[in-house]
Amino acid sequence: MKTIKRNVLLNPGPATTSDSVKMAMVVPDICPRELEFGELTLSVRNDLIKAANGEGTHTCVMLTSSGTGGVEACLTSVIPQGKKVLILNNGAYGERMQKICDAYEVAHVDYNGEWGFPINLEAVEKLLKDNINDVTHLAFIHHETTVGILNPIDKISAIAQKYNVEIIVDAMSSFAGMEIDVKKDNIHFLVSSSNKCIQGMAGISFVFCNLESLMKTKNYKKRNFYFNLIENHNYLEKNKQFLFTPPVQTLYALRQAVTEYFEEGPKNRHARYASMYEIMKKRLVELGFKFLVDEAHHAKLLTAILDPSSPNYSFNEMHDYLIERGFTIYPGKVGNKNTFRLSNIGQIYPEDIKNFLVAFEDYLKVKKII
Ligand SMILES: Cc1ncc(COP(=O)(O)O)c(C=O)c1O
Repeated sequence: MKTIKRNVLLNPGPATTSDSVKMAMVVPDICPRELEFGELTLSVRNDLIKAANGEGTHTCVMLTSSGTGGVEACLTSVIPQGKKVLILNNGAYGERMQKICDAYEVAHVDYNGEWGFPINLEAVEKLLKDNINDVTHLAFIHHETTVGILNPIDKISAIAQKYNVEIIVDAMSSFAGMEIDVKKDNIHFLVSSSNKCIQGMAGISFVFCNLESLMKTKNYKKRNFYFNLIENHNYLEKNKQFLFTPPVQTLYALRQAVTEYFEEGPKNRHARYASMYEIMKKRLVELGFKFLVDEAHHAKLLTAILDPSSPNYSFNEMHDYLIERGFTIYPGKVGNKNTFRLSNIGQIYPEDIKNFLVAFEDYLKVKKII
């Protein structure tokens, strides 16, 4: 068996995985309609529900898609015909929700905030109040990965509850990276995917659904087919099988990733991620870098850093320099601000961040940027 080269991915997912997650995909071929695979499927689903504290109140619908598929499934399955969803946009993924609704002709009311800045909760409340006869759902991004800002689930959920509106939360890059409790925060629908903080392979999105909220959609006129949440849920319940062909090997990897999540422990995982952020932030500040999002609103899972003003700086050159040394970084542009992004999620450790900082500083010195 050849050894697997380890890359430290500082892009915002797919994140670095453990070797045991990679190796979990090497399994005998199996028909996913076999009971053995059905049991694996249910075990992953049930453990994901546990990870979100949704036992007894929520289910989890797994779909074969990247994360966007899960968001699309949710927006096109749960909003009744003739009603509207209020979408909060303070980054590219909030905007993407609006585009999905446009594509399917799901009516939406928009809150369009400046990217990189917190959502104005009073403005959200006013929008809800003004549209209360039409709006049944409020959709937003938890960790807006475009910039690394954290939108507060508890506060937004409290506003929604006041107006009896259900919430749809895109927690793509925060679920399993920080505490999310679907019961405590009264979350009706929460979307994430297999390849970010849960540290599995790309290919599965999952939507946690409050069971009562999901059951309400039973007789809704359908806008979708493959991505219909209740159809996928009912089929799995009845047959112990995915409705459509699942990504077999990715599910084995996800099984292993979820096991490793509980072995590490949610608190320890959050602490590991947080410590890497602190190490990164400290050195970047010492080097004089400025961040797009202020500390108070930062999710501490991804940092958008303003490009150095030196004419010697080139993102592409820096990227290539670092990738040769095993580190993958990510570009980012917000309005007229050029940034580069560093995330601190995945199976990486404080030592990796320290090694990255050495290579990063070497690049800055070689190019006479510092
Ligand atoms: C908050 C958020 N939503 C949605 C997505 C889209 O996920 P995917 O690229 O897996 O479709 C991402 C991807 O990074 C994300 O960070």
